[in-house]
Amino acid sequence: PSDPTLLILPGDGIGPEVMAEVRKVIEWFGANGGPSFTVEEDLVGGASYDAHGTPLTDAAMERAQNADAVLLGAVGGPAYDALDFSVKPERGLLRLRKEMDLFANLRPAQCFEALADFSSLKREVVSGLDLMIVRELTSGIYFGEPRGIVREGNERVGINTQRYTESEIARVARSAFELARKRDGRVCSMEKANVMESGILWREVVQEIHDAEYQDVELSHMYADAGAMQICRNPKQFDVIVTDNLFGDILSDAAAMLTGSLGMLPSASLGVPMENGRPKALYEPVHGSAPDIAGQGKANPIACILSFAMALRYSFDRGDEATRLESAVEKVLADGLRTADLMGPEDGTPVSTSQMGDAIVAALAAA
Ligand code: NAD
Ligand code: IPM
Ligand code: MN
Repeated sequence: PSDPTLLILPGDGIGPEVMAEVRKVIEWFGANGGPSFTVEEDLVGGASYDAHGTPLTDAAMERAQNADAVLLGAVGGPAYDALDFSVKPERGLLRLRKEMDLFANLRPAQCFEALADFSSLKREVVSGLDLMIVRELTSGIYFGEPRGIVREGNERVGINTQRYTESEIARVARSAFELARKRDGRVCSMEKANVMESGILWREVVQEIHDAEYQDVELSHMYADAGAMQICRNPKQFDVIVTDNLFGDILSDAAAMLTGSLGMLPSASLGVPMENGRPKALYEPVHGSAPDIAGQGKANPIACILSFAMALRYSFDRGDEATRLESAVEKVLADGLRTADLMGPEDGTPVSTSQMGDAIVAALAAA
């Protein structure tokens, strides 16, 4: 069989910078008996808008649908802030998620031992942390209708609608329970059932799926605001957290900081299986285009490199190589290598994006 195709969408800002380092890793595996891929590249976000007047062309959408996995850098930036909402860079990413039906967004927050002292929380609170947030990604208030800005009398009204069907809740709940079975066997579901009907339904459906299919997994429920507090107070109490699109967006950024930097956090967005049995999948760092440091060689490429490790694990059944890549990252951090986001002003000289990528490839080769 021919090599699986990997569609790379570097995007904007630091997206192309961190993706260049992932390319080195992909090439290293290809040249050293690891999996090899047919790599394709296309535009997304502002880069696509500049070239084609749209944040995602139909042709790029089609390639994403047909790829075995998609790897995305980041989209957005101040140059595009004034654009009409319908062509903003972020719409390109949201279109990919929606049309590929990538309903389960896996956002792990793992604390690398070498970074435990760099977290904004105390070492003992974060050391050994291994948390998985499962964020619903294709529904909820991001996509619900009605939406828009309308005029009512003499003022404007901004409208978005939180909407969840039973089946949308059930499928993401199953993803969370399945993951928990391979981890520590615990799921905490977060919503605001105290103030939102969609939250009441969320809680009921998650409980029903649990009782009918996953009694071996321990299930708890928490209001999302209290959950945010608990993530900061004692994150190690959690194994898998399952939550909706908006709460998941916010809670995963909070969890990111526990690990030291947004520049460390990968994600996988998974849909239903394709004909070849692989899930539709898009892998991307949790961080954005970081306009404040773009073009300066300062970006941390680890989140994007770890996103490729997730691709190896979840799309290509290459868990051993994924672990090997994660160990290489761990090794360079233990050796003291730091991009600027992983150090304080007094902590010495940071390495550049490409130095970090080269060191990870060297650690792979040495393993
Ligand atoms: P951001 O994640 O781009 O940046 C937040 C802060 O974290 C910045 O100070 C940045 O320098 C730092 N940072 C982020 N990634 C880093 C890395 N790899 N290495 C070192 N430092 C890093 O979030 P923002 O500033 O709120 O958003 C900027 C743009 O990115 C906006 O247009 C936003 O919509 C977009 N965005 C895109 C995605 C995505 O493509 N998935 C995600 C979030 C934000
Ligand atoms: C993320 C981002 C996106 C989101 C934006 C860029 C559309 O913040 O991936 O977390 O809100 O989902
Ligand atoms: Mn976000």
